[in-house]
Amino acid sequence: MTQPHLVNMQGVSKSFGGIHAVKGIDLTLDAGEVVAVLGHNGAGKSTLMKMLAGAYQRDLGDIQVHGQSVALSSPAEAHDLGIETIYQTLALADNLDASANLFLGREIAWRFGPFRVMDQARMRDQTAQVIARLNPHFDALDVPCRSLSGGQRQTIAIARALQFDARILIMDEPTAALGPHETAMVADLTRRLKSQGLGIFLISHDVHDVFDLADRFIVMKGGQEVGSGRISEVTKDEVLGMVIMGRCPAQIRPGPGASMLDEHGAQT
Ligand SMILES: Nc1ncnc2c1ncn2[C@@H]1O[C@H](COP(=O)(O)OP(=O)(O)O)[C@@H](O)[C@H]1O
Ligand SMILES: [Mg+2]
Repeated sequence: MTQPHLVNMQGVSKSFGGIHAVKGIDLTLDAGEVVAVLGHNGAGKSTLMKMLAGAYQRDLGDIQVHGQSVALSSPAEAHDLGIETIYQTLALADNLDASANLFLGREIAWRFGPFRVMDQARMRDQTAQVIARLNPHFDALDVPCRSLSGGQRQTIAIARALQFDARILIMDEPTAALGPHETAMVADLTRRLKSQGLGIFLISHDVHDVFDLADRFIVMKGGQEVGSGRISEVTKDEVLGMVIMGRCPAQIRPGPGASMLDEHGAQT
């Protein structure tokens, strides 16, 4: 028997009132793979990923994780399945250090009757270990996060996801708030996580950000698939054409969101 996909979404749809934010999307992810989810603002990328993260409930469709259909009715259920999300906002508590941020809301504590005592040493130790997996040179463990660079903050955000044994990582526009140097650092982190066997959905509206990192891609437009395939079978310009005009190159099977050419060769 072949190995089930890490994630297998079939016919996933979500509407908000009259807006079809996501319509009939099929998408898979395997371990050690980076799949880029591309499209303009409003294409439905975040909504699709929020259904996988348990933040939104799908209206239609099936989502399997490790070959099992799952409800994903809450973020807690997604966490238990090893699904973690990193948002562009780099949401960290500025007044707390790395370790406090990693364990925020999930602290390790000893119980003495009615009292809870935080096990600071153990949390710092585990923080140091998980950050070393990402960046052996990270030297800002004990300072408040407000004094960290964007790249260091992103390291902590990713470490937080890894800390809880993420197998599936959703990175929603992870470099949108970062400069070029820090963007390169996040790219480096992404490669490292991939080599450790995580499956990664990398969401972006910018083809340039993800083209060199991704193994496969899907382009969305108006909630639908324009097309999908392996990065090795397309050029960057072809993917740009898919994002901007919804035009599928000949070697890619068009999805329902692809725009068709009329008899004069114009986009419809
Ligand atoms: N919570 C919501 N309530 C109403 N409409 C929403 C909500 N979230 C997203 N949408 C709408 O769904 C569509 C897709 O949005 P989104 O998934 O955020 O796109 P993307 O991440 O590709 O920019 C947009 O039209 C957006 O306005
Ligand atoms: Mg988005």
